[in-house]
Amino acid sequence: MQFGRTTLSKFVIEQTRAQHGELGALLIDVAAAVKTISAMVAKGALAGHHGALDSTNVQGEVQKKLDVLTNEAILRHCEWGGQLAGMASEEMDDPYRIPEQYPRGRYLLVFDPLDGSSNSDVNVSVGTIFSIFARSTAGHAELDDYLRPGAEQLVAGYAIYGPSTMMVLTLGTGTHGFTLDRESGNFILTHADIRVPADTNEFAINTSNERFWEPPVQRYVTECKAGKTGVRGTDFNMRWIASMVAEVHRILMRGGIFMYPKDSKDPSKPGRLRLLYEANPMAMLIEQAGGAASTGRGRIVDVQPNALHQRVPVILGSKNEVERLERYHRDFDDGSDRPFVSPLFAERSLFRDEPRT
Ligand code: AHG
Ligand code: MN
Ligand code: MN
Repeated sequence: MQFGRTTLSKFVIEQTRAQHGELGALLIDVAAAVKTISAMVAKGALAGHHGALDSTNVQGEVQKKLDVLTNEAILRHCEWGGQLAGMASEEMDDPYRIPEQYPRGRYLLVFDPLDGSSNSDVNVSVGTIFSIFARSTAGHAELDDYLRPGAEQLVAGYAIYGPSTMMVLTLGTGTHGFTLDRESGNFILTHADIRVPADTNEFAINTSNERFWEPPVQRYVTECKAGKTGVRGTDFNMRWIASMVAEVHRILMRGGIFMYPKDSKDPSKPGRLRLLYEANPMAMLIEQAGGAASTGRGRIVDVQPNALHQRVPVILGSKNEVERLERYHRDFDDGSDRPFVSPLFAERSLFRDEPRT
């Protein structure tokens, strides 16, 4: 035990006194669920939890055994305490009703129980993402109660299950990181008030989708790849872990930009990541750390949701790079990037399929 250090419990109790302890109690239950998941994930192949099930979730994705087990872990840890009006998750088609034997409160918990779950079979970092809202009164939540813009989140956080397990949280006053001390079982505040540098030379995107991106994203990535020889005049580095939690964590630790932009791969999906339990919590964490989080055409947290599992384009991280991408989207939308199709700048002609008239 590290005497004198701040535990997650102490931190959240101090930060939530105004909510009469209810929000603090809920967060302590979320932390307990995270410890259960951390132990489950760390057993790896020894537990027989690897592999896929026959089932698919509402989004048509094949569920892994761990997707279902980690979802259950959060439901069981958080349903009984009387703080919640309901829960919603990537792995459940509809919101979860708090069983009648338990009291209901006014908070709503939405989560992705295991983000990047395909990485668990190959022993690469995975995570849990969550977000907390409030209704004005206690009682069972209806679907509409969940469809609130991210700007109304009270708490956002994730756990990362990597070489160490960490929880990173914001309650609206900065973004703070806690590391699990496996010997004492406590989360200890190790990264107070994390700040994302405004500039970066590191970008993360799945470039196998390049042909499906919109021109402003193609322009941005082309310029990064051109490095010193291009308009940016500096070399860039690229990373792609395929676990959003791990990418966001890297960005919080040392800056960078992460993109899962709008693409034309499947026209019914305006992006890959889900607004309520992936994009919104990460956006709040990044903004609270001084970074920016955008769809390319506005703040993610300002998007009005119209469905529980709605997807959204995500561009987040170091502020100056996110703002550059927003500018490229504006230039594209109003046609002012059109000079780039001039023969003088022939190498940038990919930003338009054909010159505008
Ligand atoms: P999930 O495992 O919860 O479905 O989410 C995985 C997400 C995200 O973590 C990651 O950035 C992205 O999907 C990876 O997508 P690709 O497989 O297209 O790279
Ligand atoms: Mn996910
Ligand atoms: Mn998931």
